[in-house]
Amino acid sequence: MAYETILVETHGAVGLVTLNRPQALNALNSTVLKELLAAFAAFEADEAVGAIVLTGSEKAFAAGADIKEMQPLSFPDVVTGDFLGGWDEVAGIRKPVIAAVSGYALGGGCELAMLCDFIIASETAKFGQPEITLGIIPGMGGTQRLTRAVGKAKAMDLVLTGRMMDAAEAERSGLVARIVPADKLVEEALTAAAKIAAFSRASVLLAKESVGRAFEVTLAEGLRYERRQFQSLFATEDQKEGMAAFVEKRKPAFRNR
Ligand code: HXC
Repeated sequence: MAYETILVETHGAVGLVTLNRPQALNALNSTVLKELLAAFAAFEADEAVGAIVLTGSEKAFAAGADIKEMQPLSFPDVVTGDFLGGWDEVAGIRKPVIAAVSGYALGGGCELAMLCDFIIASETAKFGQPEITLGIIPGMGGTQRLTRAVGKAKAMDLVLTGRMMDAAEAERSGLVARIVPADKLVEEALTAAAKIAAFSRASVLLAKESVGRAFEVTLAEGLRYERRQFQSLFATEDQKEGMAAFVEKRKPAFRNR
């Protein structure tokens, strides 16, 4: 499929999506949403793909929702069309998605990175929720996911002042999993994704789902859920293979069985 706003590649068992609207610092418009969901759906359906990396350019992961697209919209327009509601579908992807962030990840760009499972940032990354400077507030999860990631104090600071935080502050705050040199960003993200893709697919999907549960249910429910998923993996051949390989001091060969 030919895309207008993204580039799509596969690297072995990893799907790579690159946001590609350089003239607008990868601002997220409705075409980007449609194309991103189509690319993710194709990777979900492709058995050969075990994990996905989402990245932007060196200057910008994404500078936010497209302000020029939003500017003329009225309240009835955004409510009846559930403007931006479709972005929730990114969180429904079952395969792990790593955000590889360089440069600006602002507004909807920061929220898109947070919709992914974890963020690997380059030293140049800058995160922020500047919506308040435009007379609006975050609308793709910024007040919710950012608060869960960094806590109330920093979320309030960022959402109410609109200031940006650099990669070091973002890592210290728990928003970013790791920081890597700018020229190694995509390579490092692909390596991490390839590592994930080589594990038993069932254990990867259930691990992702179980961590996700921690944000949705009580601790008791989450623990019960985790234990049942853990126990269910003993029904797989890959559990036998993984443990046999450890005992026999060799590398496991998972077959997704
Ligand atoms: C549309 C955008 C854009 C955006 C940048 N551009 N961000 N277009 N929507 N969010 C465009 C600019 O208009 C300009 O186009 C080109 O990209 C280059 O941007 P410059 O501003 O010239 O670059 P620079 O001076 O380097 O400044 C970079 C920047 C600044 C600090 C990131 O562009 C900026 O502040 N952008 C807006 C950030 C923002 O407010 N994001 C939140 C959006 S609201 P031209 O044609 O002039 O060359 C949002 C709502 C979320 O995300 C709610 C739920 C989604």
